[in-house]
Amino acid sequence: MISLEELKNLPSEAESAALSAKNQQELNQIAIRFLGRKSKLTLFLRSLKDLPKEKRVEVGQVANKVRSRISEIFEARGRSLAHSLKPIDITLPGISPRLGHAHLISQAINEISAIFKEIGFKRVRHPEVESDWYAFEALNMPPDHPARDEWETFFMDRPAKGDGDGKRFILTPHATSGTTRALVARKLPLRVINIQKCYRRQSDISHVPMFHQFDGVYADEGVTIRHLKGVLEYFVKSYFGVKREVRLRPFHFRFTEPSFEVDISCGVCGGQGCRLCKEGWVELGGAGMLHPNVLKAAKIDPAKITALAFGWGVERVLLMRSGLEIPDIRILYENDLRFLEQF
Ligand code: DAH
Repeated sequence: MISLEELKNLPSEAESAALSAKNQQELNQIAIRFLGRKSKLTLFLRSLKDLPKEKRVEVGQVANKVRSRISEIFEARGRSLAHSLKPIDITLPGISPRLGHAHLISQAINEISAIFKEIGFKRVRHPEVESDWYAFEALNMPPDHPARDEWETFFMDRPAKGDGDGKRFILTPHATSGTTRALVARKLPLRVINIQKCYRRQSDISHVPMFHQFDGVYADEGVTIRHLKGVLEYFVKSYFGVKREVRLRPFHFRFTEPSFEVDISCGVCGGQGCRLCKEGWVELGGAGMLHPNVLKAAKIDPAKITALAFGWGVERVLLMRSGLEIPDIRILYENDLRFLEQF
């Protein structure tokens, strides 16, 4: 008769033996070896009657457990053999995965970053959930200033920690909130383009509450409006085509002085004037030279350093270029493949 120790080892022996079976027939043979009339286990069980009564009950329980464990092992192996024996037709053509592609806004973002990279602008990203300080105060918009009205959007209940301590957090309404972060964190000369999601209190056929802006800053000694015009023209001609002209129209932003709205010549009439444009021009976005207070907020001396800046909407430039007449701009974010697969 085998020892108790040997008995307890039987399940693991049975397991490796069962695994070596290549088919049900082999498995049956092996099962007989472990559970059959002449198996060690059966002999052990038979000899139990020779044990004193108290011992018999205890050892009997162990032996019964071992037996059910071994039966389970053979049943499980039987099931897995049956499963793996299902015929496989290797001549069937494979299932090719559905190939997707980048969303058309991501495509536009990649293209815009590539153009600015050519003229030395590094792409950066800044938080979408931003402190009131970076989103407004550092941009020369003190609390309660009316210039904030259009941009005060989704505030968080929790006060901001760290930067702008004690002030509120906001889903940033513009990519310009990255300006001070870029100025503070990086060495001059600085040439960065921040492309990120922005949020506004708006939702109608031509506005979405979440959209994307690209916002560039070039800060160094001797940066002037001439550089600004050069950068804007480079982008416009690369993105919209060499025939398009750029014009700066005086405007007002709190964070730039002087400030401009940037227009490009209309792609439909070539600048002659048509029903789609304003006398040959279409509006693109904002730009200017950073206000001295913005530089000061980043501890930069405005007497030494000047900076150009601009900020435009990704959706806007994309739609303007493609001539896509989307009846409702919100379709961009509805994940409707019938629309998205066209790009
Ligand atoms: N942040 C402005 C907006 O959302 C756009 C803008 C204007 C950005 C002038 C700039 C800038 O960087 O210089 O309307």
